[in-house]
Amino acid sequence: MESTETVLPGGQINQVVRIGDTVRRSVTGDRSQQHALLRHLEAIGFDGAPRLLGLDEQGREILTFLPSDLAAEASGFSDAQLNAAACLLRRYHDATTTFVAVVASGAEVMCHNDWTPANTLFRAGMPYALIDFDTARPGTRLWDLTYSVWTWLDLSDPAYSGPEQLRRIALFCEAYEHPSCTLAHVAGYLPTRQAGVAQWARANDRAAGAEWALNCLDWTLAHITDAIHPNGRP
Ligand SMILES: Nc1ncnc2c1ncn2[C@@H]1O[C@H](COP(=O)(O)OP(=O)(O)OP(=O)(O)O)[C@@H](O)[C@H]1O
Ligand SMILES: [Mg+2]
Repeated sequence: MESTETVLPGGQINQVVRIGDTVRRSVTGDRSQQHALLRHLEAIGFDGAPRLLGLDEQGREILTFLPSDLAAEASGFSDAQLNAAACLLRRYHDATTTFVAVVASGAEVMCHNDWTPANTLFRAGMPYALIDFDTARPGTRLWDLTYSVWTWLDLSDPAYSGPEQLRRIALFCEAYEHPSCTLAHVAGYLPTRQAGVAQWARANDRAAGAEWALNCLDWTLAHITDAIHPNGRP
């Protein structure tokens, strides 16, 4: 049996290593709900997430290793990549509507809560799987989608103008294709998500994270929210 451990890049919170065709992730706290989610996704045949194979002798999660051909810090995504990302998020959310914790809580879906490009695996440059479900909780589609719009589009990056980002948000929303997640919904909700992340970062002594979120908030208010509301369209 293969036992060589290779540290995987990008794991900032957990120690993540590869052993053969498996990934081992350290476990802190109670992950029973996240483990049940991965089992649910497997049971209904959702193919965009690793399979949970159990816990090893060190108490680490054992997951199937899924290959990726883009670095975790990739950015500057094309329309085709954004379209594929939004479709993948929609498929993931739809796959969670029957998950027991979602049904029991009356929520819409199981939010991933940190679905950024860094928590994504790519095939031929296209996103095909989500990873890192530690923060998954029952919630709303809009909550999760708005955070992904923010992080997948690099909102506030000066490489993109306001009108260009409005176009890319509309593209993302059209690909997600749900009546509760239109451009107007996302434009109105982005500042809430950004302010929330800034507040969390401040409360957890992450000054750089708070500054980044607040800069994004300023940029978004000026270029996105203000351009869309109160009319709900550009
Ligand atoms: N199932 C998997 N298959 C292939 N690679 C994986 C898998 N799970 C994790 N990885 C790799 O390990 C890296 C870190 O994984 P993960 O995001 O789960 O760790 P983390 O410490 O929780 O992350 P973060 O720093 O975002 O909190 C990923 O960027 C990816 O390269
Ligand atoms: Mg991660």
